[in-house]
Amino acid sequence: MSTATGDAKRVTTHTLLEMKADGVPIAMLTAYDYSLARLVDGAGIDVILVGDSASNVMAGHETTLPITLDQMIYHASAVVRGCQRALVVVDLPFGTYQGNSKGALNSAIRIMKESGAHAVKLEGGREVIGSIERILTAGIPVMGHLGLTPQSIYKFGTYVVRAKEEAEAQRLREDAMLLEEAGCFALVLEKIPAKLAEEVAKSVSIPVIGIGAGHGVDGQVLVLHDMLGINKEFNPRFLRRYADLHEVISDAVSGYVRDVRSKDFPSAKEQY
Ligand code: KIV
Repeated sequence: MSTATGDAKRVTTHTLLEMKADGVPIAMLTAYDYSLARLVDGAGIDVILVGDSASNVMAGHETTLPITLDQMIYHASAVVRGCQRALVVVDLPFGTYQGNSKGALNSAIRIMKESGAHAVKLEGGREVIGSIERILTAGIPVMGHLGLTPQSIYKFGTYVVRAKEEAEAQRLREDAMLLEEAGCFALVLEKIPAKLAEEVAKSVSIPVIGIGAGHGVDGQVLVLHDMLGINKEFNPRFLRRYADLHEVISDAVSGYVRDVRSKDFPSAKEQY
């Protein structure tokens, strides 16, 4: 882990505030392991999110609910070891912060102490303000997350766009203000109308990072495995694929199987 003082170029929560003030869009991606975090960090990403989407893309669960705090800490410490510049934010998993601010603080402290990450993220608005305020008392930066909050999938019943109706949009506007007032350093808005997301981004002074929330926000986040095209089944409208690693990896593995079967591999030059 690089030290806060020994690495002048490290992105901090303050850097993100400056980027918003200067109108420089913030680029954020998820990562869950050392090797990919190293690549993503080296390519110039500003924020790496160790998302609880690890539950889906790393562990194959249908939802984000099953992943545990120990598992998030395992992923986060690997990412921190691979990362020199980006700010590393870690999701507090389901059941480790809701309805119990002391438990929330303990969960956040474990993440910071055992992984070396720089901030935590949690889902929800007014219902988790107590947890956010308590975590902040320990000097731990908190990123909020509103709109489609996947840990509440069984309440929503579906992954469709949130806050299309005025009542839900108004609640989201109010929650965004509450999160800013409570002291969150940034806010993720997931899968809401672009107009509403832009309005929220303009109404708060903290950076607003969107996923499926249009271009009027202060930055964008995507799940790494989705944007690299590893996962072909997930095709939401908001997703742009920057590679087709599904094909690259499949071709590489089938080529290896072919060469092993034909005894082409290893060649004379590839042995001792
Ligand atoms: O867990 C995750 O990957 C996230 C992003 C979708 C923002 O929370």
